[in-house]
Amino acid sequence: MLLEKITEAVEFLKKQGVESPTTGIVLGTGLGQMVNEISIEKKIDYSTIPHFPVSTVESHHGNLIYGSIGKEKIIAMQGRFHFYEGYSLAEVTFPIRVMKYLGIKRLLLSNAAGALNKEFRKGELMLLDDHINFLPDNPLRGKNHEELGPRFPDMNQPYSPELNEKLVLLAQKEGITLHKGTYVAVMGPNLETRAEYRMFNQFADAVGMSTVPEVIVANQMKLSCAAISVLTDECDPDNLVATSFEEILKVAAKAETKLTRLFTLLIQSF
Ligand code: HPA
Repeated sequence: MLLEKITEAVEFLKKQGVESPTTGIVLGTGLGQMVNEISIEKKIDYSTIPHFPVSTVESHHGNLIYGSIGKEKIIAMQGRFHFYEGYSLAEVTFPIRVMKYLGIKRLLLSNAAGALNKEFRKGELMLLDDHINFLPDNPLRGKNHEELGPRFPDMNQPYSPELNEKLVLLAQKEGITLHKGTYVAVMGPNLETRAEYRMFNQFADAVGMSTVPEVIVANQMKLSCAAISVLTDECDPDNLVATSFEEILKVAAKAETKLTRLFTLLIQSF
């Protein structure tokens, strides 16, 4: 059933001219500018794709972009789906399954996140080297679709060491600060209380409302992942200042140039 839905979406996209992309990209909240680096061949509104959920957050554009960066054929999600919007995690991760069946070999993800680690400043980037699923659900809950992957996928290395190593080297070369750390995914949509930040600070370096479901599904399908958080606010419970979605978008917009540079250089190295 799920495979049939995936196949229908894949067939539709192929008819639209989407041919064998090898890299998939997910652009997070306020992080759509990477699209400017792509020689776009097709821009397909999510709402036209069979079985795709429809984006509801205004800052998310809701387009699948097909094109190339250098020699690399890519497919990019301009805007993603979140659990807090009301979608199930199966819906949230459906586009990842579709991109895999279109032929991608690796998945690059971005997100806006709060900095828990007191050494990290807003406007800086963090490379995910591990994560904690603190969402009250799992995209793999329910009947397992054996053809898509195992019932109990291993998660000992959810992020590709090879991709991460390349990103660290590129960041060094470019003089871009790229922290490494653990990302904890929460449901949201409210930002956390001081007590919650204090708790999460015990076991994670950044907190956000996305990415983990996509990475779980990608790992189940043996798709290599790398993910970067743009740190948009500092979550120090003892010195917490009020922030807003607008402020988060403002910081994301400023910092995303660095993210775009790293992802673009990484893709050009393939
Ligand atoms: N918490 C959760 N999600 C976020 C935050 C935060 O502080 N900042 C950006 N996304």
